Amino acid sequence: MSSPPPMLFSPFKLRELAVKNRLCISPMCTYSAVGGFVSDWHLVHLGQHALGGAGIIFVEATAVEERGRITHSDTGLWDDKFISPLARIASFLRSQGVAPAIQLAHAGCKASAQVPWRGASYLSEVDAQTRGEQSWATVSSTAQPLDSGWHTPHALTIDEIGDVVSAWRAAAERAKNAGFDIVEIHAAHGYLLHQFLSPLLNKRADGYGGDREGRMRLTLEVVETVRDVWPKTLPVFVRLSAVDGAASSWTLEDSVVLAKELKARGVDVVDCSSGGLVGSGVAREVEPFGSLSRDFGFQVPYAARIRNEAGVATMAVGLIVDPHHAERILQEGQADIIAIARSALFHPYWMKYAARTLQNERAFESWPTEYGFWLEKWEPVVERLRGRVPNDVQPSS
Ligand SMILES: Cc1cc2nc3c(=O)[nH]c(=O)nc-3n(C[C@H](O)[C@H](O)[C@H](O)COP(=O)(O)O)c2cc1C
Repeated sequence: MSSPPPMLFSPFKLRELAVKNRLCISPMCTYSAVGGFVSDWHLVHLGQHALGGAGIIFVEATAVEERGRITHSDTGLWDDKFISPLARIASFLRSQGVAPAIQLAHAGCKASAQVPWRGASYLSEVDAQTRGEQSWATVSSTAQPLDSGWHTPHALTIDEIGDVVSAWRAAAERAKNAGFDIVEIHAAHGYLLHQFLSPLLNKRADGYGGDREGRMRLTLEVVETVRDVWPKTLPVFVRLSAVDGAASSWTLEDSVVLAKELKARGVDVVDCSSGGLVGSGVAREVEPFGSLSRDFGFQVPYAARIRNEAGVATMAVGLIVDPHHAERILQEGQADIIAIARSALFHPYWMKYAARTLQNERAFESWPTEYGFWLEKWEPVVERLRGRVPNDVQPSS
């Protein structure tokens, strides 16, 4: 009798959404948008991952407000004009049997920054003069700059918080109209929602600050409004920084409490990342824990604990590069979905590599026919040639 297929390849359901396997391409900003618009570049970039066989593919962090972009080159959904080019991507992903997903985001005081390959720092006069990239006014929970030199954000008033919540709602409606099956609310990595969650930055004295309940309020309001417009048949994900990684900050215990509240509001999957504030100026004086040291699967324990204690499905991410490791995480019940980012940049066909590694799949049945037809004939030729010792390198007797 043959052994059951690995869990990584097992189809599953999220609400009414059928997903063909448990591999997800994690959201990755490519900083290639112009004026917030995705282009053919995004279609090809995400399309290659679709051909590669992932079950879920995320469009990168997409801004719900123009001022919520990290850089000038972020994708956006703050206007209806962005729907149609995104719909083209969602449609292609679906045509390949992938569940099209999009992450919605607001960078808060981490907005108005330069792209990573130009330093990722705040936009300065130099950027304005050399590239015409003007900085813009940012917002946060607290009027405290991220670090020295960064813009001092405006602390959102209660009325303005209401407007931000409305912007999330409108962006989610546009994402739905663009044809995405999954929406993820980005509440991690030191961006706006995390700037409210974490006591490292949130110094408010009103109902959106203070104790954990107050600090969670904005995230929960965003979740409620997004869930309200997202079809009941389709799932909502939330990405958390499960820990800030510093003393007196957001902890894993806080994340478990939040995850229970998320679940109660209809969130289907908690995507477990970490960090984003520690290391910046707001948290330089606090002592980082060793727990954020980057080993293979360093965030998996967060996914496991949230899954077990909050009773919600989780997605594990972070330095998962080996298919055996991915399979073990699933088999041990540490997470329900595996997300990869850089492994997929290196190897868009990672899932095919996993099929060979875990299932010893020699045929090319799961590949696109347009490729598999040829590769099935090509591989034996290559193996035969490799096995032959060419005359010119034969050792002399
Ligand atoms: C180029 C790049 C862009 C990223 N952009 C996002 C993003 O848009 N949203 C997000 O939540 N995380 C983003 N991340 C983090 C990844 O989603 C992922 O959590 C992280 O890279 C760890 O996974 P990995 O070890 O498989 O790369 C980005 C990572 C990379 C490498």
